[in-house]
Amino acid sequence: MERTAVYPGTFDPITNGHLDIIERAAQIFDWVIVALAVNSAKKTLFTEQERFALATQSLGQFANVRVMLCSGLIVEFARQQGAVAIVRGLRAVSDFEYELQMALMNKKMIPEINTMFLMPHERYTYLNSSIIRELARYGSPTIRDFVPAIVADALMKKEEFRARNAG
Ligand code: COA
Repeated sequence: MERTAVYPGTFDPITNGHLDIIERAAQIFDWVIVALAVNSAKKTLFTEQERFALATQSLGQFANVRVMLCSGLIVEFARQQGAVAIVRGLRAVSDFEYELQMALMNKKMIPEINTMFLMPHERYTYLNSSIIRELARYGSPTIRDFVPAIVADALMKKEEFRARNAG
């Protein structure tokens, strides 16, 4: 039986830290669905179409990974896709409490779907999308160490556009 996992997130934008987790999951599961949350409470820099395009283009090298939009509960989406697991990354102890709460709530809703935690490489433990957006706002080339080139280009373009329209 083929095993599918769902890896959810806002991906605003996708970073090398996400890619690290996805690569690990793609080695464990037959299929990985990157579930891009469209109704997240967060106000995003990139539109859902932009986030979807950046994630899809960044994941081209993985034959068993696909990106899908998800607007409802992650665990319901996982069931609809026939997934056996939800994958989450644990970067630091500070992630743990929120992750435990989500995993237990998801387990309560659909007990057959387990949450699996994977640790990214230590170079990504302090990374998140906000810090990348912040660096991009100041035009820092350091973002290129942490996101795929197409994402860095898209961030720079977005910030140039914002700066032009603000000024
Ligand atoms: N490398 C780098 N950054 C990472 C990372 C990794 N491996 N894993 C997470 N991050 C970053 C994310 O980019 C995000 O950055 P930001 O907040 O600065 O923009 C931050 O860490 C938090 O990540 P995460 O906890 O995955 O939040 P998210 O907003 O990306 O996704 C959802 C949250 C969408 C998965 C969650 O809200 C959800 O499941 N919603 C659907 C509704 C639902 O089912 N609710 C019930 C849950 S019980």
